Amino acid sequence: MAKNIIHEPSRTLMEYRLLPGLTEIDASPKEISLRTPLVYSVKDEKKYYLNIPIVSAAMQSVSGARMGIELAKLGGAAFIFCSQTIESQTRMIAKIKQHKAGFVKPKTMKPDMTIAEMYKVRKETGHSSFPVVDSDGVFLGLISKWDYDISLHADFLIKDRMIPIENVKVARNIVDLKEANNILLESHKSVLPILDNDGKLLNIVFRKDINDQLDNPLEVHDEKKRLIAVASINTHDYEERVKSLEKAEVDVLAIDSSDGFTVYQKNAIEWINKNYPDIPVIGGNIITQEGFRFLVEAGAGAVKIGMGGGSICITQEQKGTGRGLATTVIDIAEARDKYFKETGKYIPIVADGGVTSTKDITIALALGADYVMMGRYFARMEESPTDKIVVNNRVMKPYWGEGSVRAHDWKMKRYNQAKFVEGVEGLVEYAGRLRDNLEETLAKIRSSMSTCGVKNIREFHEKAELELVSALSIREGKVHDIYQMTESNEKKEDETTN
Ligand code: IMP
Repeated sequence: MAKNIIHEPSRTLMEYRLLPGLTEIDASPKEISLRTPLVYSVKDEKKYYLNIPIVSAAMQSVSGARMGIELAKLGGAAFIFCSQTIESQTRMIAKIKQHKAGFVKPKTMKPDMTIAEMYKVRKETGHSSFPVVDSDGVFLGLISKWDYDISLHADFLIKDRMIPIENVKVARNIVDLKEANNILLESHKSVLPILDNDGKLLNIVFRKDINDQLDNPLEVHDEKKRLIAVASINTHDYEERVKSLEKAEVDVLAIDSSDGFTVYQKNAIEWINKNYPDIPVIGGNIITQEGFRFLVEAGAGAVKIGMGGGSICITQEQKGTGRGLATTVIDIAEARDKYFKETGKYIPIVADGGVTSTKDITIALALGADYVMMGRYFARMEESPTDKIVVNNRVMKPYWGEGSVRAHDWKMKRYNQAKFVEGVEGLVEYAGRLRDNLEETLAKIRSSMSTCGVKNIREFHEKAELELVSALSIREGKVHDIYQMTESNEKKEDETTN
């Protein structure tokens, strides 16, 4: 006889609908905050927040450096996949961390270097402006891509082409980024070197970074104003991997496993907390309250939940393990709240796998998720790491599971066996820029929250009223009994996606 048999079927997000609550004046969509905790940190509870409740899945076809940069700018985070070499994952994290900053410690050039030597560094780093300093670090001038033409000036010395200090706007001993920003904005220049009293270069501030910040008010960054970077890891090579990721200044780690209720995961979390106490670690995936307790007691700062629901996932069919995502969220949210009452530690939960549309995101949040993780949604975007292909006149992008044949080399690591696959490979319709798609998605979430009369996600958890709906009522909720025009047919298809 089995230890436990639950006779009530587990539920998917698609089976619930929200009931409206009174919408107050200050609960209009534009007043609604989607800020949510990313991970609990013993050291600083308030440190790790997302400004939108959405992250992209740790998958080869979803989360590379480009996604990491764009999604962090837009308020979320990409979990950079670990089914790649430690070196290449570290490069991706470094790229996100170096993308922008407030005060930058730049690579410097010496006045007697040739333009050709500097050009080589430019190609390697992608940076186009460099401060020039002497052997004591004293600032002498700036050299940027406008100051030379490589076909004409390759053999010139930098000191002959740079803009000398007399013609550069510099600031002294500034430690407040706002003050530096104000000087830069007034100066008509694009770069502000900051020097100490002896004229030595301390930092540099770039105008493009300020503009970037103004364009992206929801951007998620660290205390140095660099974009936040999250890396997934596995339970096999984590000691070596975390060491390398830490050097690239990764902010948060997340263990990528289809089954997180394991001693391997506990050991990995404990090892990271002991050896890298400043880097919080997210555990998962689990689908039971017991699994949640196990991971938080091991020291997980957030927990990914869900098994078997992913759009490319065949775990349920192959192994018979899994659970509807709505039931999982309901159960684990209860365990999270209980743990919070007992310990005062709020451990965020992440609904992952099978979030198929915006209304699923909203329902997951209402049921108690702190944020959702999606793969397919992001695989369709311009910023995912795959190339577009045209099939039957439709622009598509490939999307494959981490446990699929295509991710074969790494399958053994994630799924710990190679005898069968747990994921498939397919195509998803190209959707364009992430920025445009997210705008619509977030507008819908805010609008639902407004209808429910709540102003933030915490209130949503406390006040949401939901109802299980019948298959017939789901049918009634769709367009019915009319002949749709072609254009609306296209729209209808979109709606299963957005
Ligand atoms: P989606 O948003 O429905 O496409 O699901 C994405 C999620 O599916 C990921 O975040 C993983 O949790 C899960 N996943 C990724 N690859 C596989 C696989 O090969 N088999 C089963 N689940 C997978």
